[in-house]
Amino acid sequence: PKLRSLRGRRVLITSGPTREDLDPVRTLTNRSTGAMGIELARAFRDVGAQVQLVLGGDLPAPWGVETLRVRSAQQMLEACEARWADSDGLVAAAAVADQRPEALAPEKVKKGDGPETLVLVRTPDILARLSAARRADQWVLGFAAESEKHLEQAAAKLVKKGLDAVLVNDVQDGRAFGAQANTLTPVTAQGPHPPLGPLAKDQLARAVVQWWAHRLEARES
Ligand code: C5P
Repeated sequence: PKLRSLRGRRVLITSGPTREDLDPVRTLTNRSTGAMGIELARAFRDVGAQVQLVLGGDLPAPWGVETLRVRSAQQMLEACEARWADSDGLVAAAAVADQRPEALAPEKVKKGDGPETLVLVRTPDILARLSAARRADQWVLGFAAESEKHLEQAAAKLVKKGLDAVLVNDVQDGRAFGAQANTLTPVTAQGPHPPLGPLAKDQLARAVVQWWAHRLEARES
């Protein structure tokens, strides 16, 4: 099949984990590496898109992609908000921490000094915020990693966050996080689509980009 181009399209991508600090040496994070979002950034770049990547974690930035490194969910939100108006679409692949410690201690908390219970507060939902602030010409793709009833939950997420599509990872058996090969099932307002994969992450990213470019083409013609 012919390779579809997204020449000149401006795509904002979030990827990687966020880190929510308790003090200068302790942090809350998750097992995401950011590999899938980095492969998506490469795949969009390779079909001519102008990509801005907002990246958490320690993986090296992909060549030819403007990358902004962030640490916390709040920083990721601010970086995305500053870039959203100049983007045609958002791909939210980041594993954003859902909670952060209520307080950030300026100095290392000594053993026995701090409370033994950690109080957490919610972080902003970056995808929901950008989606709520979007123009009619902007598109929004989200990801879901659920261990049960994943297609039903994805359909609910699609509606709740106002997305064009949710790409669903089945995280049972420790797949997805840090794994080499992966499968993604796109869910749109029309329901679930045939799964993409199993494929290595770089190939899977190309499949996602072609799937989405095809839908964009249909939608715009
Ligand atoms: O609600 P849930 O966390 O399952 O949604 C996952 C999707 O929302 C992913 O696309 C993720 O990048 C995005 N998300 C976000 N900000 C959050 C939580 C999730 O952008 N605080």
